[in-house]
Amino acid sequence: MRVYRSALLRFADDGTVLYDEDGLLAIGPDALGRQRVLAAGAWQALAPEYSDQPVTHLPERILAPGFVDMHIHFPQTDVIGSPADGLLPWLENYTFPHESRFVESEYSEQVAPFFIDELLRNGVTTALAFSTSHPASVDALLGEAQRRQMRLITGKVLQDRHSPDGVRDETEQSLIDTETLIQRWHGVDRLGYAITPRFAPTSTHEQLRGAGELAARYPDVWIQSHVAENLDEIRWARELFPASRSYLGVYDDFGLMRDRAVYAHCIHFDDDDRALMRDTGSVAAVSPTSNLFLGSGFFDYASADRVGFGYGLASDVGGGTSFSPFHTMLAAYYVGREGQTKQGLSLSPQQLWWQHTAGAAKALGLAGVVGNLQPGCEADFVVLNPQATPLLARKTAQARNLDELLFALIVLGDDRVVEQTVISQAKYGSSA
Ligand code: GUN
Ligand code: ZN
Repeated sequence: MRVYRSALLRFADDGTVLYDEDGLLAIGPDALGRQRVLAAGAWQALAPEYSDQPVTHLPERILAPGFVDMHIHFPQTDVIGSPADGLLPWLENYTFPHESRFVESEYSEQVAPFFIDELLRNGVTTALAFSTSHPASVDALLGEAQRRQMRLITGKVLQDRHSPDGVRDETEQSLIDTETLIQRWHGVDRLGYAITPRFAPTSTHEQLRGAGELAARYPDVWIQSHVAENLDEIRWARELFPASRSYLGVYDDFGLMRDRAVYAHCIHFDDDDRALMRDTGSVAAVSPTSNLFLGSGFFDYASADRVGFGYGLASDVGGGTSFSPFHTMLAAYYVGREGQTKQGLSLSPQQLWWQHTAGAAKALGLAGVVGNLQPGCEADFVVLNPQATPLLARKTAQARNLDELLFALIVLGDDRVVEQTVISQAKYGSSA
């Protein structure tokens, strides 16, 4: 067992932040040896129960849940910052040529530890990631996550048309490979599998049908794809699937919308699309740095809430420009402010933080498992230093309440704020 004394941030069931300036976090192994939160709350109230335990005291630090990234591309670690007119030329000129390198196991195995180090350095302890169309990329990423005992979900990308040599797969083999990988990895330790059609335009009807059949046969496996990101992409999808009601409707027609289905972007939706998300239990991975970088548009938060479908935040590296959840939360704030509804309102710091932790976990079907530090949760957490830079120290010292403190961290924070990332009692970070 391990007992920490520090400021402590966690979430109530309704998404509001619970904050103890002088808090206690006790963690210990469950029957499977997995570290879980045993107790969390005010030091004064809980300390007597743990008086016989040694205490790790972290003054002037904040313990907070590890961040959850709902959509990131492991093979695009080196694609960050590649400028293009928009999504389709960016895919053609930078992304597909780079992803073709992951056919080699050695290359995949070289990038995987860097990618996971970068997630952890930035405080991300759970991710739903794209690999490439090559099964070797999935084995490399999940093998590395398993060594770190990290919670990670990924899948082999399905793309059997409109893709260049080197990344295009073959319909029948792609579905065989997907099922083999599900059986090899899904539910092993903290790992999960996601059936991963890249997006409708790069899959044949046969491949989407096969993916839908696998999704029905393996109901607790995740599904991930992209939708309604860019106007040229939408036009293309509509041409290729004229029988479907909308671009999103394509996925529904092939049995790819259900609980645990995660669609990145979801920008250019109408209310029927939003109702389809809600009614099928599918959720959106909102990717604001990517949408701003590629000029894709603004996620419509007000309409999503009005109709009532689930969502959470994502980096979408390498369309996204940063691994840092702080950068993503700040970009989401800009989007909430400047988005389609033009209401002039934006998201509160507590809402932004929730969307990248407990809210993202809930959207992934992992509420009460990760993204929070309530008793019973897996003990993945970060140690944040609100004095990490001179400006942060100055600004956070003047915070008059929790919202001002969290907002200062969101606006001024980055990887320097994350002093330690703790997963399964393995520590990463400068003071580990
Ligand atoms: N749509 C299809 N593939 C991709 C991708 O790799 N990144 C983004 N942002 N959108 C996509
Ligand atoms: Zn993406």
